[in-house]
This record gives sequence, structure tokens and C-alpha cells, in this order.
Amino acid sequence: MKLFVTGGAGFIGSNFVLYWLCHHPDDIIVNYDALTYAGNLENIKELEGNSHHIFVRGDICDAVLVEQSMKACDMVVHFAAESHVDRSIMDPSAFVKTNVLGTQVLLDAAKKIGVQRFHHVSTDEVFGSLDLGSSEKFNESTSYSPHSPYSASKAGSDHLVRAYADTYGLPITITNCSNNYGPYQFPEKLFGLAITNILEEKKVPVYTPGNQVRDWLFVEDHCRAIELVLLKGKVGETYCVGGLTKDVTNMEIVKMILSLMGKGEDVIELVKDRPGHDVRYAIDWTKIQKELGWEPTVILEQGLQKTVEWYTTHQEWWKNIKSGSYTTYYEKQYTQR
Ligand code: NAD
Ligand code: TYD
Repeated sequence: MKLFVTGGAGFIGSNFVLYWLCHHPDDIIVNYDALTYAGNLENIKELEGNSHHIFVRGDICDAVLVEQSMKACDMVVHFAAESHVDRSIMDPSAFVKTNVLGTQVLLDAAKKIGVQRFHHVSTDEVFGSLDLGSSEKFNESTSYSPHSPYSASKAGSDHLVRAYADTYGLPITITNCSNNYGPYQFPEKLFGLAITNILEEKKVPVYTPGNQVRDWLFVEDHCRAIELVLLKGKVGETYCVGGLTKDVTNMEIVKMILSLMGKGEDVIELVKDRPGHDVRYAIDWTKIQKELGWEPTVILEQGLQKTVEWYTTHQEWWKNIKSGSYTTYYEKQYTQR
């Protein structure tokens, strides 16, 4: 099988490409990525010289290059996106361009080429926010109510993917997954930022009041869910993917990280909250469990340990990132808080 993977040099995309070629070594992956600030060839360095991995540097908004690169591919797995909520608040335009227009360009090419499957990797953030303390969870029937420019642009992309299925019969599947963590996550997201700041002996910013809840999933479990949906999922269906069975707040996560790293809680710095901050996400993953036999295998404590170990042993990887244009972003995001 030949897969056209977009965003395969980013966090989840690179984990997926490495996972897929390890488990399906006869397949070929065309890895199409623009290498924005979040894309990094270091993530897929171990595939250098592997003839089953073809890297194409390109923007998903470039219809000509997309169509040319997607030719003869059987399946599309679409990860490429602008993915950080705080950056979407600073400047929404790139989010609409890549996440909405870029997805439409890919859909057009997939329709023209006649791929067997277009799999769209989406987020639980399209559903909006649940009440703190409630036992409610998102599922495949939850209506959309996005609050950030990021989640609104992902919601737009989900709607387009379903519209191409309904209007043109494109064989699609969608996964709406909760927050991922693990190796190669860009250090602007909570886990990477907290762990690397601790390693650098810096403060860890927690958005006030720190009681917000996310449904954390170790990235490899997400990759396995996508694999199952590609191989056994029903065309036209959406699957919700999540990790936790009980609520854990951001403050609790940071304290768990600090305890694992043997550091005191005095490094926690409560900073101004994010505007429009969704307070709680929780996923009901019964459908993918019942229909495809998926469930998370890495519990939070294990995943945290693996992630702390990874950042501790890959300091060059994140130090290269943190010494570049990231500094400007960090100052803009946290200095006025
Ligand atoms: P990321 O920001 O780490 O990586 C995004 C990748 O897409 C980068 O390699 C970047 O270079 C590439 N890219 C961006 N714009 C592009 C463009 N115009 N053309 C081609 N490539 C482009 O993101 P991630 O965290 O790996 O997320 C991947 C996907 O999974 C996204 O669609 C995101 O919405 C979704 N998702 C993420 C999470 C999470 O917790 N990170 C959870 C659920 C769903
Ligand atoms: P993040 O990793 O940015 O993912 P998302 O906003 O897509 O859920 O943030 C996860 C949670 O952690 C979210 O509630 C915001 C919070 N957070 C902090 O408290 N401090 C930080 O420095 C960051 C980046 C996030």
C-alpha cells in the first residue's frame, strides 16, 4: 500500500510515520510537509536512506504539487495543520489558510485521483467545552461548538471532509482525538513546555486557576487508533479517541511532572488565563473500542515517565528549537502575563 501522509514531520505525524513503517515495512509513505516552525526533519531522521519513505517539502495549499505528489497513492492520512491554540489567538489567518483551505485542496486532489480512503485527523476541541465537575463526555454525536480560532478552523475542515463524502462519494474517515503527549511534541504545548522549562531550571507557567481538564493520550496509542481505522474502520464513519477514565487538572499534571523530576512546586507560576479557554474535555471512546477493539494501553503515569525520559535524553532536539524563533514566541506569549 502507498500512503500519502501530510504533516509527517510534526509531532503526531512523525510518530505515525515511524510507527507505520515499523509495523508495515512493505508499504510506502509519501510524507508531504511544508516544514513550518512545527515541522522538523530531525523527528524522522532514522528514516534517512529508507526507500519506503519519500519526503516532499510542500504546502498543502499548493494544488499542483499536492496532486503531483499524491498520484498513485492508495490512502491519504491528513495530519498537517496549524495546531497551537495560543498561536491561533495571536494570528488566526494561517489557521484558516492551512486547516480549511489546505484541507479543501487535499480533498480535491483525493477526489480526482480516486484514493481508496481519505483519513482526516481531527481533534476533540471542535466540540467545545464541558462543565467542570460534570461526568459528561464528548462522543460521535456531540454537536460542534468550537471556541478558539484553532478549533473553529478544525471544525471547518471536518465539515468539508464530510461534505466531500456526501456530495462526491469520497471514501472518508475521521478521528476526533483528545490531547496527545509524548516524544517529539513541540515544546510550546503543556507537557513539552513544562518538562523542558524544569530541565532549564525555569518557572512553569500554568494558566490561572489551573483547574482546567484535558483528556491526555500517549501519542503511540493515537497512532494505533488511526491504524485500526485505516485497516478496519467503516468508510464514512467518525471515531472519537481518548485516553483517560478520570479527570486530571492541568495543575495536577504539572505537579505529577515535578514529582517525577524530583523538583518542588515553587517553580509553578500561575499566569493570566487564555481568552476563551475551554475548561474541560473528556472523550467517550466506546465506539472505537466496541467496533475496532481499540483502547489506550499506556496509562498516564507510564506515559509521563516515558515522556520525561525522552525529553531528558533528547536535550539537543529541544534546545535547538528553544534557541531559535521560539524565543520570540515565548516572550510574546508569556512576558505580558
Ligand atoms: P504539529 O503542529 O506538531 O505538526 C503539524 C505539521 O504540519 C508540521 O510538521 C508542519 O510543518 C505541517 N504543516 C503545517 N502547515 C502546513 C501546510 N500548509 N502544508 C504542509 N504541511 C504543513 O501538530 P500535531 O500536534 O502533530 O497535530 C497533527 C494533527 O493532529 C493536527 O491536524 C491536529 O489538529 C491534530 N490533533 C492534534 C492533537 C494534539 O494533542 N497535538 C490532538 C488531536 C488532534
Ligand atoms: P495545550 O498543550 O496548549 O493544548 P490545548 O490548548 O490544545 O488543550 O494546553 C493544554 C492545557 O494546558 C490547556 O488547558 C492550557 C494549559 N496550559 C498552561 O496552563 N500553561 C501553558 O504554558 C500551556 C502551553 C498550556
